[in-house]
Amino acid sequence: MSILNVAIIGTGGITLQNHLPGLALCRDVRVHALCDANPATLETARQQTGAAIYATSWQDIVIRDDVHAVIIATPNFLHPEIAIAAAQHGKHILCEKPLALNATDAQRMLDEAERAGVRHMTAFTYRFVPAMRYLSHLIDQGELGTPYHYRCLRLQDWGTRNLGWRQVRKFAGTGEIGDMLSHRINFAQYLVGPVRRLVANLKNRTPVRDGAPNDTDDWVAILAEFTNQATGVLESSKLASGHNESWRSLDHVELNGSAATFQFTTGKWNELQAGRLGGSGLKPLSVPPEFWVWPGSPRDPSVGDPLVSFRYDQAVEFINAIREQRPCAIPFNDGVAAQRVMDAAVKSTEVGQWVEVSNL
Ligand SMILES: NC(=O)c1ccc[n+]([C@@H]2O[C@H](COP(=O)([O-])OP(=O)(O)OC[C@H]3O[C@@H](n4cnc5c(N)ncnc54)[C@H](O)[C@@H]3O)[C@@H](O)[C@H]2O)c1
Repeated sequence: MSILNVAIIGTGGITLQNHLPGLALCRDVRVHALCDANPATLETARQQTGAAIYATSWQDIVIRDDVHAVIIATPNFLHPEIAIAAAQHGKHILCEKPLALNATDAQRMLDEAERAGVRHMTAFTYRFVPAMRYLSHLIDQGELGTPYHYRCLRLQDWGTRNLGWRQVRKFAGTGEIGDMLSHRINFAQYLVGPVRRLVANLKNRTPVRDGAPNDTDDWVAILAEFTNQATGVLESSKLASGHNESWRSLDHVELNGSAATFQFTTGKWNELQAGRLGGSGLKPLSVPPEFWVWPGSPRDPSVGDPLVSFRYDQAVEFINAIREQRPCAIPFNDGVAAQRVMDAAVKSTEVGQWVEVSNL
């Protein structure tokens, strides 16, 4: 099989934590080119990969004929222009979430990728948690019955430390809603369906973080109605003191349906809590081993920290979709749909009213 050359644009935190170890699992794939605006960050990644090509300008990377696919892991505001240029040069694209600063730009990314006929994927990494996949399977089997309520709670303690580009709206778009709740909005749409309307509040309680201005939200809550009449309550905060700042802090999803209730917690990667209509309470439900890795992934689930290693399956899915010439499991469409909900939540906060979620 011919070698697939991947370029990574933005070689900071998530590239080192996730994209490089994920690509290392993929057969016949080379991290061929690296790009970061910061030469020191670029050098760190170069030493870890031995990539042949490295640049501080992404424009030099997307035009190269020897680059077949790009991973975009820059601050959010750069995603659309890089992705659109990459698509126009025929590169397959895995782009970090949130796809863009607004749904119009996210839709442009999707349209360009479709026009170019390239594979496109949104890095909604938590979709690769084994328990999340099993939950989706149970719903598909009819175990939930009619969905009544979706509930999610993401609580972290980030204190008032400086978040860099993440606390500057023109670079990040939003704060907590784009950074953390976007994943849980995606779960909601994946497990329950499209959101029809919502009322939301985004709140900034830390206008100064470690001496630097913050014009983004650090708390968000959404009350939602899905097109299938199910209701949703979504909350996420960076200011839940004592809850820890990591993937080990509280990340809870609950679904109540006419037949059953299921709970999912990222911290319990291979277990759900389940209860049946009229039953005596929720009980643990083990995730069967066939769900422990993504289909087609060579990952050994007993190697490494299971709360980290499921994320590596994301790169495997991207590469396998390219090889198999099929759509990626979590295409840009998912990123666009989540962005529409985020745009509606921002608008609802501004007008103080319920808002219909736009279909553009
Ligand atoms: N999927 C997930 O679970 C997950 C987790 C963390 C971050 N993310 C997303 O990944 C993206 C990056 O986040 P991060 O935590 O790695 O941030 P980071 O700040 O650690 O890394 C971003 C990198 O982009 C570089 N950069 C800035 N401008 C650039 C340019 N013009 N050209 C090339 N490189 C440029 C910066 O120098 C930096 O090294 C964001 O979109 C974020 O939302 C996703």
